[in-house]
Amino acid sequence: MSDVNMKPDRAAWLKGPPAACNLPPTVPAGRPWRLVLLGPPGAGKGTQAELLSENLGACHLSTGDIFRAAKAAGQCGHSPAMVVALEAMRRGELVSDATVLDILRERTGCLRCRGGFLLDGFPRTVAQAQALQQLLDDQSVALHGVISYEIPVPQIVARLSGRRTCANCKAVFHVTARPPKVAGICDQCGGKLIQREDDRPESIRVRMEAYHKSTAPLIDYYARARLLIPISADGDPDEILQRTLTALRRLIPAAAG
Ligand code: AP5
Repeated sequence: MSDVNMKPDRAAWLKGPPAACNLPPTVPAGRPWRLVLLGPPGAGKGTQAELLSENLGACHLSTGDIFRAAKAAGQCGHSPAMVVALEAMRRGELVSDATVLDILRERTGCLRCRGGFLLDGFPRTVAQAQALQQLLDDQSVALHGVISYEIPVPQIVARLSGRRTCANCKAVFHVTARPPKVAGICDQCGGKLIQREDDRPESIRVRMEAYHKSTAPLIDYYARARLLIPISADGDPDEILQRTLTALRRLIPAAAG
């Protein structure tokens, strides 16, 4: 396990070119891990990605965070495709494959990041998975695994409705399961905690439908590719982290601490 004390700033990922990371990830002691985190909305992918990033040194690459960063930056300068994407996101629908893949292609440098990567929220359709494979082949890098977080539906609703996110650094909290030290204030940067627009009940329903229709088929897709690592997302975040690290250790014994 690498000793990573400072959080990479992810500027190249969140803003896209020409932005570069002011604080790129350090090169991990073992190997740069390249993983996809799969799971329904609210399974805890973002929470685990932050914990895994601290433990493995790999950069947390969330497509949802790209859209939220664009929204926070304001309408001014949004391309027509981004305006349509943000509207789809607000309703809980998936953004079109074409828009998501354009965004990914602009950021292929992040797939070669020296710290490795934890892709969160991408791919989300079989077409996106096929495009990712092509992009990785083009960069001569390989995925080590696809962690599939499994959780019963009632827990999903409880997690999403209590989620609070830092408007500034995007750190994720939960009003009861992972409360901040001071209500409404981010522990990490002092930013204001907000509720995501797509965590309203009507958007949660649409997101679950989109997951079952478009994203769940990726479980079979990656099982066939012998990359799937199923992990129960029941329990507290640290237990789930340990379960994940144990599974990664089995995959490559010396590399996951
Ligand atoms: P995205 O941001 O990817 O959202 P999502 O997949 O719906 O996942 P969430 O962020 O809601 O949940 P999570 O699994 O990360 O859970 P978290 O750790 O926050 O995408 C948002 C939207 O962007 C999409 O709907 C779509 O419109 C668009 N989009 C993005 N990528 C796209 C793509 N590739 N293609 C098309 N469209 C795309 O945890 C949830 C809560 O539970 C938190 O409060 C947390 O503190 C708490 N919690 C976490 N773990 C635990 C635990 N073990 N016990 C108790 N509470 C916990």
